Amino acid sequence: MTDTIALIGAGNMGLALAGGLVKGGHAPRSIRVADTVHAAAQRLGDTLGVTVCHDNATALAGASVLVLAVKPQQMRALTRELSEVPGLAQMLVLSIAAGITTTTLAGWLGPATAIVRSMPNTPALIRRGTAALYATPEVSAAQRALATVIMGAVGQVHWLEDESQMDAVTALSGSGPAYVFRLLECLEEAGVDLGLPAPLARALALETVGGAAALAQGSPLSPSVLRVQVTSPGGTTERALQVLNEGNLDELFQRALRAARDRSRTLAEEFGVP
Ligand SMILES: NC(=O)c1ccc[n+]([C@@H]2O[C@H](COP(=O)([O-])OP(=O)(O)OC[C@H]3O[C@@H](n4cnc5c(N)ncnc54)[C@H](OP(=O)(O)O)[C@@H]3O)[C@@H](O)[C@H]2O)c1
Repeated sequence: MTDTIALIGAGNMGLALAGGLVKGGHAPRSIRVADTVHAAAQRLGDTLGVTVCHDNATALAGASVLVLAVKPQQMRALTRELSEVPGLAQMLVLSIAAGITTTTLAGWLGPATAIVRSMPNTPALIRRGTAALYATPEVSAAQRALATVIMGAVGQVHWLEDESQMDAVTALSGSGPAYVFRLLECLEEAGVDLGLPAPLARALALETVGGAAALAQGSPLSPSVLRVQVTSPGGTTERALQVLNEGNLDELFQRALRAARDRSRTLAEEFGVP
């Protein structure tokens, strides 16, 4: 891919995206990075060899894609500034900001703008992320392919046809790493409670969750079939699962994800206020 990418925002996600693209073979010089904290952009320049720009307009000049990687609450001011930059109408705008709809972005950037909205997650930092993407009708097939390459540099990519599903995606995979970290905490604490030394309990929990996820990912069998396979009748796993079911684990997760989805909707409404 030879496209020039303007990346605004050199924080955690900006670093992950630039790093993933460079590792994936994208020419570092054709990634132009700008950040109000110049030292943050410079850090990417020093570590990855990307082009560091002193202002956003310089980063945008001649770029075919503009990646917006600032915090959601900073997006309005940034897009207002960028909407004046010549050539924006020919660019793909790729936003990774949580909770900001394409309608809101088009209101800030101009209605003809080609916009892809993406919801990634933090394993993108180690190129093991998963992201859902939604494109406005203005986005061409070539621009869709470009967005797939950019987000694919840090993990798996799933296209949505209905933007309203983005709130559910946010609830499942956007916030999801925190649920897994919580599970790891619970397993470690329960192991310590049974008398295991804390470092051993942590290692066993981490290796079990990582190993089970890898097994499920590499298997043609569904997670429920894999679960049944390790659950001998009358055995230890069956006893533990019985306790989890009595605690209504399914319902608890449904409630948790519904709460996250509702919060995502509320945030989107708040950001959308003109
Ligand atoms: N991290 C996650 O788990 C995650 C997951 C999914 C999606 N996202 C999305 O990814 C986006 C970036 O998150 P992050 O954690 O990487 O944020 P971050 O660490 O705050 O990085 C954003 C950077 O952009 C800079 N900036 C702000 N306004 C700017 C402007 N007008 N022009 C140029 N630079 C500007 C910020 O500077 P200041 O420090 O001065 O503000 C900061 O250095 C967010 O919208 C978030 O919703 C993050």
